[in-house]
Amino acid sequence: MCSHVTVLDHSVVQHHLTCLRDRSTAAADFRRHMEVLAVLLLSEATRTLPTQSVTVETPLETAAGRHLAGRVAAVPILRAGLIFTRPLLDLVPQAEVWHLGMYRDEQTAQPVHYYQKLPAGDPPDVALVLDPMLATGGSAGEAVRLLRQRGIGDVRMVSVIAAPEGISCLRNQHPDVPVFCCAIDRELNDRRFICPGLGDAGDRLFGT
Ligand code: PRP
Repeated sequence: MCSHVTVLDHSVVQHHLTCLRDRSTAAADFRRHMEVLAVLLLSEATRTLPTQSVTVETPLETAAGRHLAGRVAAVPILRAGLIFTRPLLDLVPQAEVWHLGMYRDEQTAQPVHYYQKLPAGDPPDVALVLDPMLATGGSAGEAVRLLRQRGIGDVRMVSVIAAPEGISCLRNQHPDVPVFCCAIDRELNDRRFICPGLGDAGDRLFGT
């Protein structure tokens, strides 16, 4: 669609995404499929994290290698983004987790804040905004705005499904933010749900 969007082209992704879309998938399985996709998405979104040269002693000799360097903030948007937190911490154990609580107002589809744990002080080098759904783009755009206010330059958006409307909105507001997703769906419906989508990710993850 455009250069700042990476859509994972992968048979395993297609399989787990299709299971997520299936309305008969129960919450426990839904979480498992989502976590698999989180690992695959995050491995792409973290591909260019900063590293530094190190040497380690193998059982045989000295080997040159690289370790992750710098500070990384994982920013899950509650509720659905929480499912990405554990996979991100598995990949980047030193990451900080900055929680951001927002829900969409049902009438206006505008994001409503209810919780923020975005520490002040020196900004991290990279922030990864985690939310399985990018619908209108309102929540993602607001999250990026708050992170930019904290002085973070390198902000990356990680979603499972994106709507074309959400991608356009985010690109207009924050053209330098790359998006990593598993699929770009057809459109939003009149309730601003992604179609064909997978329903309400938060409700399906948490059985509500
Ligand atoms: C969903 C989703 C995103 C947001 C996407 O959250 O998880 O956070 O909507 O929509 P947008 O791109 O139009 O802003 P929801 O409001 O359903 O809250 P929940 O995760 O607590 O269910």
